[in-house]
Amino acid sequence: MKKLVSVAALMGFMMACGGGDKPAPEADKAAEPAKTEEAATTEEPVKTEEAAEAPAGEAAGGDFDAMSDEEKMKTLMELGEKVYLTGGSGGVACSTCHQANGEGLPPSFPPLKGQGDFMGDCKKHAGYVINGLQGEIDVGGVKYNGVMPAQANLSDLEIAAVITYERMSWGNDYGMCSPADVAAAR
Ligand code: HEC
Repeated sequence: MKKLVSVAALMGFMMACGGGDKPAPEADKAAEPAKTEEAATTEEPVKTEEAAEAPAGEAAGGDFDAMSDEEKMKTLMELGEKVYLTGGSGGVACSTCHQANGEGLPPSFPPLKGQGDFMGDCKKHAGYVINGLQGEIDVGGVKYNGVMPAQANLSDLEIAAVITYERMSWGNDYGMCSPADVAAAR
């Protein structure tokens, strides 16, 4: 408790230094009376099931570490498919170049299917998404020399999801990558 108080005091101090003399706006807000009515309706246990079925991804953020491995995989695969096909929050859909079936468009865009050399390592794979990739590479015996755009603006969770999706689709079975792996590659 002491700690909390001193942190609050420190923040108050910092805000004061920032030059703002305004009173805290929260002080004006009265308590929210609406809550009482809701609280009166007791039966709402159904919610838990619905929450479990909610579209994985956005909601998962901070809860990710607390999930079971099974839940993590499900969350990553669902969000990953979305990012792969749509580009997620500001990326470029991987499927535009690598195709929805992961087979790419040789000799312009390399396949992701069966390419353990490139996606076997989580951090390396995350690095391609974060930094992009260019220069000649050999993928399954075919030479590519294209440019993959950097997509560092995707969140750690989105990148973990899309690379897990690639690692576990089209017959690939390279396992899960976590947001922590992605953070380590930044
Ligand atoms: C605009 C086209 C384009 C988009 C979009 C794109 N890539 Fe690529 N990607 C490429 C090209 C081109 C290469 C090969 C680069 C080179 O020649 O050095 C590549 C290479 C790769 C490789 C390594 C080679 C392989 O085939 O395994 C991986 C992994 C990869 N991309 C994953 C992704 C992921 C994940 C996304 C989506 C987040 C994505 N790419 C989006 C064009 C694209």
